[in-house]
Amino acid sequence: MKDKCIVVGITGGIAAFKICSLVSSLKKKGNEVHVLMTKEAQEFITPLTLQTLSGTRVITDMFSVDYEPDVHHISLAKKADVFVIAPATANIIAKIAHGIADDMLTSTFLACQAEKLIVPAMNTGMLENPVTQDNIEACRRYGIHVLDSASGYLACGDTGKGRMPEPSVIQDAIEAIASKDRYLTGKKVLVTAGPTQEALDPVRYITNHSSGKMGYELARAARNAGAEVTLVAGKTALADPVGIEVVPIVSAADLAEAVLGRSESQDVIIMAAAVADYTPVTVVDQKIKKSEGEFSVPLKRTTDVLKALGERKKTGQILIGFAMETQNLIENAGKKLASKNADYIVANSIADAGAGFGVDTNKVTILSKDGEKSLGLLSKEETAEKILEFCVKKES
Ligand code: CTP
Repeated sequence: MKDKCIVVGITGGIAAFKICSLVSSLKKKGNEVHVLMTKEAQEFITPLTLQTLSGTRVITDMFSVDYEPDVHHISLAKKADVFVIAPATANIIAKIAHGIADDMLTSTFLACQAEKLIVPAMNTGMLENPVTQDNIEACRRYGIHVLDSASGYLACGDTGKGRMPEPSVIQDAIEAIASKDRYLTGKKVLVTAGPTQEALDPVRYITNHSSGKMGYELARAARNAGAEVTLVAGKTALADPVGIEVVPIVSAADLAEAVLGRSESQDVIIMAAAVADYTPVTVVDQKIKKSEGEFSVPLKRTTDVLKALGERKKTGQILIGFAMETQNLIENAGKKLASKNADYIVANSIADAGAGFGVDTNKVTILSKDGEKSLGLLSKEETAEKILEFCVKKES
């Protein structure tokens, strides 16, 4: 997401200090960011901090004579692609649920016709109070997106629901609603991501270096294009993306069951996971003790899920596989395209700088029966968008 106008409203909750990193990150990605603060928010964090990070004038006062001669709550409301209020206190939620516009933030929010998001953050008792719940429900009814609060330790000393989700999660929620090109609306997309783990005994397993980043970005890109997305994910260090059903798996067998059980209803399936080709013949119950001499583990083949999907592919379903190679990239990827009956194989070579495991960039070539297309070195986010545009958008 870049080149969007994001208006960030901050209200008086302790989580206000975390919004600095959201504003900074939105700006760094190339968006225009405007900040509106209530009087109470300024007790927690200064406008100067937000002004420095956003690079735009922070608006706090409805009647200041210092502003340029336009009506700010109207001009900002018109400019916004997304208007987010975070943290949103019980008080601000009550106001916006009832159309109260008694300061700059609430007036601008009421005037704004763009996508709107509120991020409730408060004490558990305040959140669970039926009045607050009714107000949140009213906001939803009025088409305002609501990001669920997280659970955990609260500044008031309680532990429970009401924590503001981390800024990266709020940014993900903004990205989910900011896109205007919703070419996958009404479509179901299943993505696999990350490594699998094949247990040897209760403490050891065989795995690979996959971070899951490419698959997660593909899932996000499909969501941003309007699809209903399922992400079948091996163990990674990544946070669950907002608005996506995440199905956690551990082994190749788990992945096969999760994917093949859901494949029938999918319009697009993207196999980005690094699935183990072999698993131990037996998993022993107790920890294997060392002994002198060599040690070997008999392995057996796992299900080739991509191949199984290719065999049962229904008309119109788009099947995309990945091929990570160390040599003969195009030749090996081309063989996979044919042998697995895939529509596209996204190939990369881990010999290329900036491509492959762990890094935030990738350099892929997409193969299809019609030829090949190289995307060049891009962030995994951009690579994901371009893969979907090339393989799916042109067919939708
Ligand atoms: N894949 C799969 N099931 C497996 C192994 C791999 O569905 N048991 C999928 C991967 O998710 C990827 C594609 O198959 O989309 C290619 O994976 P890769 O490991 O590169 O190729 P293999 O077919 O396993 O062939 P080889 O190991 O010989 O390169």
